[in-house]
Amino acid sequence: MGGLRAIVGGSGLYNLADDFQVDSRLRPETPYGIVAAEMEVGEWRNQRIVFLPRHGRQHAIPPHKINYRANIWALHRIGVTQIIAVNAVGGIGPEYPPKSLALPDQLIDYTCNREHSFFDGENLQLKHIDFTWPYSNQLRQHIIDAASRQNIDLVKSGTYGCTNGPRLETAAEVRKIAADGCNMIGMTGMPEAALARELGLEYAAIALVVNWCAGLSEVEVSMDEIRCILEQEVSRVRQLISAIVDEAE
Ligand code: HPA
Repeated sequence: MGGLRAIVGGSGLYNLADDFQVDSRLRPETPYGIVAAEMEVGEWRNQRIVFLPRHGRQHAIPPHKINYRANIWALHRIGVTQIIAVNAVGGIGPEYPPKSLALPDQLIDYTCNREHSFFDGENLQLKHIDFTWPYSNQLRQHIIDAASRQNIDLVKSGTYGCTNGPRLETAAEVRKIAADGCNMIGMTGMPEAALARELGLEYAAIALVVNWCAGLSEVEVSMDEIRCILEQEVSRVRQLISAIVDEAE
């Protein structure tokens, strides 16, 4: 297999689509441990696609416990060269209200204690990757074109702040992260993006805003509301992904 595209599903996206014709399911052991769930490989809209839900199929794995290295390594090993990730986030500022879709072009990593590199002195020869632009601009442009062709509203840039979780932030943490220049906060964007770059994969992320970040609305963050928005809006994420898959290479 060569030149494959993968979709890495986040909260709310545990299967790709009803008409995704899966022909193999793989859950290999990697030098970094076992993959989160079976990688589904198959045909969707006349394209070869791989789908992997990063939290496992029933959201069994919390963000700080995901084996990001095993997931990215396994995708790479089966021939994936391009990853479109989906992440639920909290929004900061008027451009990023709940229910919006955004395509980050920058990130700040606030995580700690995650295995965040393949270069651990054991398996690979050390390389200091360039990470000036953490997301593939070419892939981002492809996503922007697909969204505009289908009239899907998409905020075309933004800085993603990745916190460790699993708790949400304090109001003061959100003020600090906003002052750092972040427009959205999630828990799963890193180290995934950096690991993809370490292996030379093209990587972009679609962020679905599911709440206002802590302290930015009159009320506290409600998990019920987050769940509700995820359920309602995941169909728009699927619509965008299908538009991306349909776009000519
Ligand atoms: N903060 C961090 N991660 C999140 C949030 C949030 O407000 N919403 C969804 N994922």
